[in-house]
Amino acid sequence: MRGYSRVLVTGGAGFIGSHLVDRLLGEGFEVVVLDDFSSGRMENLSGCFGRDGFVLVRGDVRDRDVVRKVVEGVDVVFHLAALVSVPVSVENPVLVEDVNVGGTLNVLKVCVDVGVKRFVFAGSCAVYGEGHGVPRREDDVLDPISPYGVSKLAGEFYCRVFYRVYGLETVVLRYFNVYGPRQVYGPYSGVISIFINRLLEGRPPVIFGDGNQVRDFVYVKDVVEANFLAMFSKNAVGEVFNVGSGRCTSINELAGLLIELMGVDVKPVYSDPRLGDIRYSCADISRARKVLGFEPKVSLREGLLETIAWFKENYGRKTA
Ligand SMILES: NC(=O)c1ccc[n+]([C@@H]2O[C@H](COP(=O)([O-])OP(=O)(O)OC[C@H]3O[C@@H](n4cnc5c(N)ncnc54)[C@H](O)[C@@H]3O)[C@@H](O)[C@H]2O)c1
Repeated sequence: MRGYSRVLVTGGAGFIGSHLVDRLLGEGFEVVVLDDFSSGRMENLSGCFGRDGFVLVRGDVRDRDVVRKVVEGVDVVFHLAALVSVPVSVENPVLVEDVNVGGTLNVLKVCVDVGVKRFVFAGSCAVYGEGHGVPRREDDVLDPISPYGVSKLAGEFYCRVFYRVYGLETVVLRYFNVYGPRQVYGPYSGVISIFINRLLEGRPPVIFGDGNQVRDFVYVKDVVEANFLAMFSKNAVGEVFNVGSGRCTSINELAGLLIELMGVDVKPVYSDPRLGDIRYSCADISRARKVLGFEPKVSLREGLLETIAWFKENYGRKTA
């Protein structure tokens, strides 16, 4: 497999990580997962148990010994383990710093010590902060508005510095709003899983503000593809890439589309705007297109249909 055979996915029991694990196993890699199951779930990995080359280790990315054990013999590390909730980061910024920054630094350092070839980091569009009505480019000003955003920015900077100082081949992917099957549904989850679950209960989606705020919703399998490309691309090393669909969707449009796809006879309900809600968050993905050859393949309609089908099957089980 172009020189790589064994990979580590931290946070591999989570929403995005588990899809990446499925793909990596499917392509014949040996895959080690390190996860503390703070938000990850065993059932996300149900297709992996018993497969050749799959190893699951329950542990914390901040624990040097366990990280050393799982990184040994690995060619590529995909680092997705993190506390991902913005509200949690507001309530407990010290913990989020500890896991997202301290954990990332710990894994990076072990990768250098052990001689890992490549490190692919799950960054976030949260590093950009408030938008100004134009798609975000990687070299825009970075001005996070939450402790979570700061933690992701620190992780990025460590990646770049580890390339410059130690020569570790790091690649940063800044994910926008990722959605798809296995997405957590709970008080802190993303808008798509909340809207779908309300509609499954026959209740209208609740829109905060006027609904004209826009997001870039990217399907989880497209994000997995970006990780794959980042693993192999020569020119990606030391760089940062937006990973989005390249399309802007307003919350009004999203609600309308979900109502149509789910065939529920309701209209959205409007509520007060949420403090700190970003108005505009869309990705310019031209750099990822050019350098990685990244091309999102799943339309919002298709991705939502797959997500709705998954939630229907798993309906009633709150996942967070
Ligand atoms: N979902 C999105 O829209 C989105 C957007 C931007 C960036 N990201 C990033 O993508 C990555 C994956 O996010 P996700 O949406 O799949 O969330 P998730 O919560 O499903 O996955 C995170 C995983 O990390 C694990 N984890 C947390 N703390 C850990 C620790 N200390 N040690 C070991 N494992 C730990 C969790 O148990 C979980 O399995 C995160 O780094 C997140 O910041 C996600």
